[in-house]
Amino acid sequence: MSTTPRPTQRTLGASGPVTSALGLGCMGMSDLYGPADEAESIATIHAAIDAGVTLLDTGDFYGMGHNELLIHEALRGRARESVQISVKFGAQRGPDGQWLGYDASPAATKTALAYTLRRLRTDHIDVYRPARLDPNVPIEETVGAIADLVKAGYVRHIGLSEVGADTLRRAAAVHPISDLQIEYSPISRSIEGDILPTARELGIGITAYGVLSRGLLSGHWSPDRPLAGTDFRGHSPRFQGDNLTHNLALVEALREVAAAKGASVAQVAIAWVASRGDDVVPLVGARRRDRLTEALGALDVTLTDADLASIEAAVPVGAAAGDRYAAAQMAHLDSEH
Ligand SMILES: NC(=O)c1ccc[n+]([C@@H]2O[C@H](COP(=O)([O-])OP(=O)(O)OC[C@H]3O[C@@H](n4cnc5c(N)ncnc54)[C@H](OP(=O)(O)O)[C@@H]3O)[C@@H](O)[C@H]2O)c1
Repeated sequence: MSTTPRPTQRTLGASGPVTSALGLGCMGMSDLYGPADEAESIATIHAAIDAGVTLLDTGDFYGMGHNELLIHEALRGRARESVQISVKFGAQRGPDGQWLGYDASPAATKTALAYTLRRLRTDHIDVYRPARLDPNVPIEETVGAIADLVKAGYVRHIGLSEVGADTLRRAAAVHPISDLQIEYSPISRSIEGDILPTARELGIGITAYGVLSRGLLSGHWSPDRPLAGTDFRGHSPRFQGDNLTHNLALVEALREVAAAKGASVAQVAIAWVASRGDDVVPLVGARRRDRLTEALGALDVTLTDADLASIEAAVPVGAAAGDRYAAAQMAHLDSEH
């Protein structure tokens, strides 16, 4: 008998699907965190589904289609309705992986969805969302194009990613929005300004990513870990020099809180995000079964008010050194303007 705990369920916003309480983010299985093992990635997706995880998050640009093809492979022989697939689109990339900007125009939106359906060999996507606000396209046009796809049955729900409160309001005026995908962790809390209250007012759920600050808060990070040239963390301000030293000291403070709970640092960080509300679903970026097992263990960690106060004292708001993205990428975040 498996000892892996079964995640309970949550509903994404007022209009969204019922999903597992933790989602699996598949990005690192194809891109941005250095080499990944394909067989282990598929085994991790299988283990997640077997443990009750139903929400799988991807983007058509993660490995330029590779991540969707991988998910298709992992879902072979499984009932399509047993999972919810969340797909981001709009990021433009060259054959060498170079980032070329964003296109969320109606034509690009519909074209991207057509290719995504083929790669995933499915007839619908559960949540479809632009990865970033396209500065050249009013959000009403992007959401309107996805709403056409909803009407035609190709998409079930519309989501957004890294947008601010005004954009949430404009988008929700066009069509119900199931969830906002945005970075949220004990060291990334800018959502708590006007974004989270606005999402709640509009009945929009949160799928939180970077819950472990991309591995920094995992308790497994070490300054001498070699980083491939394409690894996001090679360019992330939080992973550089003195910033990294400062941030790893925060992790040690968090480790003391975790040890007192008999939990790991990663589990406490995930449990903290899950504790923000029933409308928040943490996406964990596990790409190995051992990491997944650790992440699922967070569902058994109940944080008391005293624990939450200890976490707050260990990692006060604004404690991290360095922005969560490099300057050029911060400029693409409507959520930070
Ligand atoms: N909307 C957006 O803009 C956006 C941006 C980024 C990501 N996302 C989505 O959110 C998902 C999660 O984001 P993320 O990958 O940055 O999140 P994350 O969970 O903060 O970071 C994942 C990293 O943490 C490491 N890690 C160590 N222990 C772990 C454990 N027990 N469980 C999980 N990971 C552990 C992983 O391990 P190893 O290195 O050892 O494998 C990986 O390098 C992505 O897969 C993607 O689907 C969305």
